[in-house]
Amino acid sequence: MKRLALALPILALMAVKCHHEGDPTVPKATAYAWTAPSYYGTRADSLEAPLTVEGVALGKRLFSDSSLSADGRISCRSCHRPENAFGDPRVVSTGIYGRLGTRNASTLVNLAYQTHFFWDGRARNIEELLIQPMTRTDEMGLTEPQITEKLQQEPYLTLFAKAFEGARPTSQLARRAISMYVRTLVSASSKYDRWKQGSYTMTDQELRGMTLFFTHPVPENRTRGANCGDCHGTISTAGNPYQLLGFKNNGLDINAADDVGLQAITGNAEDKGKFKVPSLRNIALTAPYMHDGRFKTLEEVLDHYNDPALFSKPNVDILIQLGTNSRFGGSLGLTDQEKADVIAFLHTLTDTTYLQP
Ligand code: HEC
Ligand code: HEC
Repeated sequence: MKRLALALPILALMAVKCHHEGDPTVPKATAYAWTAPSYYGTRADSLEAPLTVEGVALGKRLFSDSSLSADGRISCRSCHRPENAFGDPRVVSTGIYGRLGTRNASTLVNLAYQTHFFWDGRARNIEELLIQPMTRTDEMGLTEPQITEKLQQEPYLTLFAKAFEGARPTSQLARRAISMYVRTLVSASSKYDRWKQGSYTMTDQELRGMTLFFTHPVPENRTRGANCGDCHGTISTAGNPYQLLGFKNNGLDINAADDVGLQAITGNAEDKGKFKVPSLRNIALTAPYMHDGRFKTLEEVLDHYNDPALFSKPNVDILIQLGTNSRFGGSLGLTDQEKADVIAFLHTLTDTTYLQP
């Protein structure tokens, strides 16, 4: 009898643990076939778990599940809306119980090609960074054990078992699945992509805008440029994905009480006001703009970059200071026509196939 009493809890433990990791009778998840144009180059998400079809499908479902929040109303999708290219049309997002955040929600795009996340670069790994939105009290606000508990029901018992070799749902595996899903979000069907693939002919204005966008001005030989590509220069029109080179100060006024950006992470004074150079993919759909959502339109953004006062802003990046169309320095000096041309090019980055839920 005594023996049995001891054996029972052990059996019970085994029952709870009953996942079959490594068990050859439990089918392995199916490897996910990556599809992105070759000009996107090599993915940078090698620190993360490999993608599987079942993991991605589970992650997609979790992404929209507001029962994983403290008030039952907020999911990832509340702030990263597919119809806004996975950004948020509000200046700052609203989390549980109507609580306001402090930054404009990043658009989720081409994350598999990046290595530093958030506006200030404080995260290197998506699976880990997801602890933040899931548990922060101004976002979704549940603890990890609470999330695990919410997941102990169908369809999740079946879906987790399929995705993770028979495992029971946990908050950590939920993060793994969501990380798989968001890494599959690649935008590559815009006019710009079709032009690269030879199946779209840009209008004259779009071509002029693209040339301006990628050209560093050289006033000595009258090469005019808008200098955007100096920072937004990769195929995904984001910054350099490696080290912290993709973090720049683009001359936004940063007041004493404001967000210092990268400086809060590195502690270096020269990093004050540096933020992640975001991808401009689908930029026409993701207003308002900048980490604090201060600009409502692309016209306002262009006026910011064209403002002669920009060049003397504290800590403004050298690439901006050197990007002048006048021999006497001091301003990008784009004409109204040139600004409109650049905006026309920015519209070619819109990918309507990307807006599926
Ligand atoms: C209440 C709004 C809100 C919710 C809910 C939310 N996010 Fe975010 N997300 C943000 C904001 C704001 C940022 C930018 C924060 C920063 O940089 O400090 C962000 C940034 C991110 C980033 C970094 C992107 C980049 O390019 O650096 C990822 C990835 C992300 N969120 C994924 C998710 C996922 C997945 C969920 C659901 C588990 C989620 N978020 C839930 C508002 C939200
Ligand atoms: C010195 C580097 C640099 C240059 C040059 C530059 N940018 Fe930026 N850009 C940034 C950074 C950094 C941010 C994010 C700043 C922030 O939010 O604090 C940004 C943000 C933006 C945004 C807002 C993105 C969003 O998701 O909110 C747009 C639009 C933009 N840039 C367009 C342009 C255009 C057009 C040009 C050329 C006229 C240009 N940029 C030149 C670094 C640069």
